[in-house]
Amino acid sequence: QAALPEGYKLRALRRDDFDAGFLDCLRVLTTVGDISREAWEERYDWIARQDGSYFILVIEDTTSNPPRIVGTGALLAERKFIHNLGSVGHIEDIAVAKDQQGKKLGLRLIQALDYIAKQTGCYKTILDCSEANEGFYVKCGFRRAGLEMAHYH
Ligand code: ACO
Repeated sequence: QAALPEGYKLRALRRDDFDAGFLDCLRVLTTVGDISREAWEERYDWIARQDGSYFILVIEDTTSNPPRIVGTGALLAERKFIHNLGSVGHIEDIAVAKDQQGKKLGLRLIQALDYIAKQTGCYKTILDCSEANEGFYVKCGFRRAGLEMAHYH
């Protein structure tokens, strides 16, 4: 497994990460919007109640003052009827702060999420990405499979 730089910590998302730059970290990925603390806490609490099926990890740079979240990624363990009540892991919302890319933080997040998927009994882990990110996921051990379809609302 890839080692984290000195002083960087990989851990589960916390309710007080609103103040540690979690939403800013996600902004490298897509539009986040202007989210109030109250709205954040409501969504955090909802996710926390999805016991055992929703895992959000962050990488925190504790050498920065105050400590700052520099990477994040999520795993959803989807329980199915098929494959003898099998589960599938879905990796979502991987983001590494612009000034922190290239330090293997993304790789470390994917390894950790895939490990959780395996531990929760998922028989595979899947994700959607752009062509531009294919090489990154290949380096993480994934391979192209299937075709994504979308219907935006
Ligand atoms: N194409 C090809 N190879 C890449 C790419 C890329 N876009 N990005 C990284 N790599 C390679 C690295 O060079 C490295 O290779 P090496 O082991 O030979 O040195 C290896 O992949 C691991 O790279 P990391 O340093 O772990 O990558 P990083 O921490 O920069 O994270 C990430 C990569 C997550 C794509 C980051 O650039 C990022 O946050 N981008 C913007 C947001 C984004 O696109 N997120 C992914 C959306 S898809 C999803 O969420 C399911």
